[in-house]
Amino acid sequence: MSNTFVIKGFGGEHNLRGTVRVTGAKNAALKAIAATVLFRDVVTLANIPEISDTLRMFDLLKDMGADVVNTKNGIYTVLVPHSFATELTPGIAKRMRASIVLTGPILARYGKVSFPHPGGCVIGARPLDLFVDGFEKMGARVTIKDDSYVVEAKGGLRGAEFFLKNQSVTVTETFMMAGVLAKGTTTIKNAAMEPEIADLAHFLNKCGAKISGAGTSTVTIKGGKLLTGKGHRYKTIPDRIEAGSFLILGALAARELHITNCDPLHLESPIEILRSAGVTIETKKTEMIVRAPSRLLPVDIKTHEYPGFPTDLQAPMTVLLTQADGESTVFETIFEGRLNYTEALSAMGASITMMDPHRALVRGKSKLHGRKLMSPDLRAGLAFVIAAIVAKGESVIHNVDTTIDRGYEDVEHRLRAIGVDIERAQMMLEESPENK
Ligand code: EPZ
Repeated sequence: MSNTFVIKGFGGEHNLRGTVRVTGAKNAALKAIAATVLFRDVVTLANIPEISDTLRMFDLLKDMGADVVNTKNGIYTVLVPHSFATELTPGIAKRMRASIVLTGPILARYGKVSFPHPGGCVIGARPLDLFVDGFEKMGARVTIKDDSYVVEAKGGLRGAEFFLKNQSVTVTETFMMAGVLAKGTTTIKNAAMEPEIADLAHFLNKCGAKISGAGTSTVTIKGGKLLTGKGHRYKTIPDRIEAGSFLILGALAARELHITNCDPLHLESPIEILRSAGVTIETKKTEMIVRAPSRLLPVDIKTHEYPGFPTDLQAPMTVLLTQADGESTVFETIFEGRLNYTEALSAMGASITMMDPHRALVRGKSKLHGRKLMSPDLRAGLAFVIAAIVAKGESVIHNVDTTIDRGYEDVEHRLRAIGVDIERAQMMLEESPENK
């Protein structure tokens, strides 16, 4: 049995209208949950999205000895005790790459951490060499046995300076957190600059950390003692990727769509690119209003670390380019496997030519027709939802619970509220019709 979405498409009509509210950012919340290891007392986290990845991260902490209470929807308190396991439970950690950010705070606080290689995933190999290199530079000893890593730092970590050969968000966050308890100063050069990083640093500084430069390419952390959550409460920033996905959906199918509880300042690149494709977008402090134009213009996109065009919006944007009048190119610079989903779009009627694993040529405008789709990961999965809404006829998207539900809270109810004909169903793979 597979957890599926059954969607009846609009066939290109602009039928969406109303308001959709954006949830807290998955990629901010996951790191705030990991950061609770750095605290000597209870930490309160708010606006946590109720998605399987955050629930899995809480499960990991509980499994290792933390006390986690879900006081009410989206609000959690966490206490990580002095006696805490130092092995990330393989059964959980292997299924979620983001668990890797726990390694920094655990190693810094307890002097040891072991974890499985989170493994590659459909979007790319996802190496760990920058983690190993950073831990060794901070004085730890790393041993790799089978596919698991044991990292020890007798006497604790010492501050170090390193230059990241690739701008990695989770590497930046892992060592920013490790630096909070290291002896001396840690400097991370060529750091990632995603807004979730500055948001995390802001919260940790309120609780006693000494981090400067977060959100720029050089982050400096003065090591100190355990932090305190007393009198502070973390509030997750809006999910810019979810907001951007709804913006792209609106650009394709909305008469008028209001996207609320978002931060347009985190979406300057997608907004700029959509406007150049002819989309009308009005922005307010925490809201975007989008209307689909009668004609979409082709535009070339190249994914890039923040503040460039986010790789997590590449798949939804490619769906939009199939509806633009003319030729567009998509250049995925970060992950080598992140264009594989385009085969399914071609099967729906799109005209997409892969020029190499990183580059695709999209010829629009093409009529999409509904079909059976297998969601490969959460971002391409949401792109398939968007494609199914644009297409003519019915689509069935499989593997919703292991992909889309990882990152989008209660998405079918929010989509239904703006006019999408979408139902969640349990279905045998062969049961769903193979639309020819
Ligand atoms: C974060 O991953 C996000 N994940 C990703 O979102 C997002 O796509 C990505 O940033 C880019 O914005 C989380 O925040 C949990 P990486 P990141 O594996 O940057 C290289 C989603 O759908 N690298 O570090 O931590 C790697 O090859 C996810 O929400 C090394 O070379 O991803 C790649 O080129 C998908 N060595 C780059 O860094 C290492 O040791 C980023 O990859 C580690 C990474």
